[in-house]
Amino acid sequence: MSDWETDRLKEDLRLTIKELSKTYEELSLLYRLTEQFSGATVDELCGMLIDEIKKQLNVETIAVMFYDKSSDLLFTKKAIGRWNSELNITPQSEFLWKVLKKGKSSTICDVSTVSDLNRLGFKSVILSPLIGKKKTIGLIIVSDKKDGNEFFAGDVKLLNTISSFTAIFIENALLTEEIQEFYLGTIRSFVKALEARSLWTAGHTERVTHYALAIGRQLGLSEKELERLRICSLLHDVGKIAIPDSLLNKMDKLDEKEWEEVRRHPLIGAEILSGLSGFYEVIDCVRYHHEHFDGTGLLGLKGEEIPLLARVLAVADAFDAITYDRPYRMRRPKSFAIEEIKRYSGRQFDPQVVKAFLNWIESSDNIVVSNSEAGT
Ligand SMILES: [Fe+2]
Repeated sequence: MSDWETDRLKEDLRLTIKELSKTYEELSLLYRLTEQFSGATVDELCGMLIDEIKKQLNVETIAVMFYDKSSDLLFTKKAIGRWNSELNITPQSEFLWKVLKKGKSSTICDVSTVSDLNRLGFKSVILSPLIGKKKTIGLIIVSDKKDGNEFFAGDVKLLNTISSFTAIFIENALLTEEIQEFYLGTIRSFVKALEARSLWTAGHTERVTHYALAIGRQLGLSEKELERLRICSLLHDVGKIAIPDSLLNKMDKLDEKEWEEVRRHPLIGAEILSGLSGFYEVIDCVRYHHEHFDGTGLLGLKGEEIPLLARVLAVADAFDAITYDRPYRMRRPKSFAIEEIKRYSGRQFDPQVVKAFLNWIESSDNIVVSNSEAGT
């Protein structure tokens, strides 16, 4: 073999190794992303997507835009850097049209031709479509490398790999959210019908949901746990369907026997929901929402034996019970409810949850029950 041929072989080998190592890096990246993305919500996915692009491309600005077919607008879902989060773009420019409608791979565009982007003062931009299984969901816009260099082909390829991989996860998460919205709507209608039986229970579920979510946020629960808490809160008193109206609306205090009957509603609720597969955490939360932290509740569960969401619900439920009218007594002021909850910390309530409740309540001057919080 001649020297020339040897050199050629060496060069081929070097290029092959370089290509293989790139492929290996890409596969490692996809493997890591699969682990991170599995089961994440749309918001979480967009956040992780931005973090990953920032890390890989070292850019100043990243925006994830979703396409809304009904308004024919691209709206900002999440963004960092020099970006106006209120920015909606009509995809009429040729560049955006190609990327979005034709699902054409990334384009380095002349920013001056896209007035919305030009106004933001970008020098160079890459647009990469988020293509789902059947349609383009939106696009990713990245702008200006921190080191001042122009983008090169490798950046475009890397961004495309990340965006096309993430788009499938986002599409699935969007579908899951749609299904969740549907069953939440069904649950809310059911709960409203239930509450309509008694003047005294009207609005209770919405308020408890609002308080529980506020406490949950103070505790640093994840979006997923908060979503579960929302469902638990909406369904916590579903067992009252089996309690006679005469007891729910009784103007006098309940006698011991009647009280025993009302106290069974968590068990009845759990029984009603027991046929729903995949709801076991919600069912447990419903079953144990009247357990006491010191073990003196209905079933005698103690401390962390009681699911955290049920412990959160217990405080939210008590706060609403004290601050709203009941058939047999008038509402008490917020300050009274706070003192009561403090007094029973470590007895009826989890001290950690009470602390989160106090943090929240001390930072909220006016407690306004938001319908959207309860999901209505
Ligand atoms: Fe209850």
